[in-house]
Amino acid sequence: MNPFEQAEKMLQDIQEATLNSIEEAEQFRIKYIGSKGLLKDLFAAMKDIPNERKKDFGQLVNQIKQSAEAKINEAKQANTGSKKSKSSGEDLTAPGIPYEVGTRHPLSIVKNEMIEIFKRLGFVVEDGPEIEDDWHNFTALNLPENHPARDMQDTFYIDYNANKLLRTHTSSAQIRVMEKQKPPIRIITPGRVYRNETISARAHCTFHQVEGLYIDKDVSFADLKQTLYYFAKEMFGSDNIRMRPSYFPFTEPSAEIDVSCFICDAKGCAVCKHSGWVEIGGCGMVDPAVLTNAGIDTEEYSGFAFGMGIERVTMLKYGINDIRLFFENDKRFLEQFS
Ligand code: DAH
Repeated sequence: MNPFEQAEKMLQDIQEATLNSIEEAEQFRIKYIGSKGLLKDLFAAMKDIPNERKKDFGQLVNQIKQSAEAKINEAKQANTGSKKSKSSGEDLTAPGIPYEVGTRHPLSIVKNEMIEIFKRLGFVVEDGPEIEDDWHNFTALNLPENHPARDMQDTFYIDYNANKLLRTHTSSAQIRVMEKQKPPIRIITPGRVYRNETISARAHCTFHQVEGLYIDKDVSFADLKQTLYYFAKEMFGSDNIRMRPSYFPFTEPSAEIDVSCFICDAKGCAVCKHSGWVEIGGCGMVDPAVLTNAGIDTEEYSGFAFGMGIERVTMLKYGINDIRLFFENDKRFLEQFS
């Protein structure tokens, strides 16, 4: 190969080279333009080139040098500046991952709705403890020791001798409110209650109630009825309810509150036990013995009370046929209430 051919070949090699790292670029620099590099040999060959071709040869050697330098710069830039963005591996144009937002539990939705409905009638929310004593859960509510009606509610005792139990109903909160507040009283107390019951589609050992209490002068059963009609109309869009005579030790007279079964349009289903009616709670005129126990003058005041199961109301409202669904926290169930 004459020096021209050598130079042409070198230019081609340089143009075709790929340099993948700083190290490769450095090797390349040493090979071609380093102090003992190939370019030096070409310059040395200049003296053997005939004079009339020296100019062409000189231009070719310059071109080789410039090509080599450009290659090296290009490789350096590609392997320093962009290194970080290469390793992050993110595609900034990809669609975002949606942010998962939780939903309110159906029992909370219905509880809040019940609170809103009764608020419109002037009821205020009160609270009571879930760990109760015998007096507030039973005795003051006209259920003295050995009263047979205590069997209606299978109680979880935390410590029988220390007089600590889990409240079996929110009626216990009635007593606490009457003990510290003078009439007129118009309260509701939503909350959790506990009973030693076998878990099934219709019953659970823990569930929720809303207790209502209205004490004032001249309160009558008609007031109670109107209150419940208003509630049903607001909650279910229909006041198709009935009051069935019943017995509770803390009210006289007493009634059970039934709502027309919206799940089957009262045609009969498992939830209404094929009767067309679903019981959602109890109510009645507060027994004077209860008022006396709580220190309220029965000559001056009377009142009504009611207690409703939030699970029952929710099941009716949304057509849910198994109470256990509320406590399993299955997202597929809960997401339906978003
Ligand atoms: N405490 C009763 C229960 O859990 C429900 C109840 C009935 C509450 C009548 C009341 C009432 O306030 O007047 O079964």
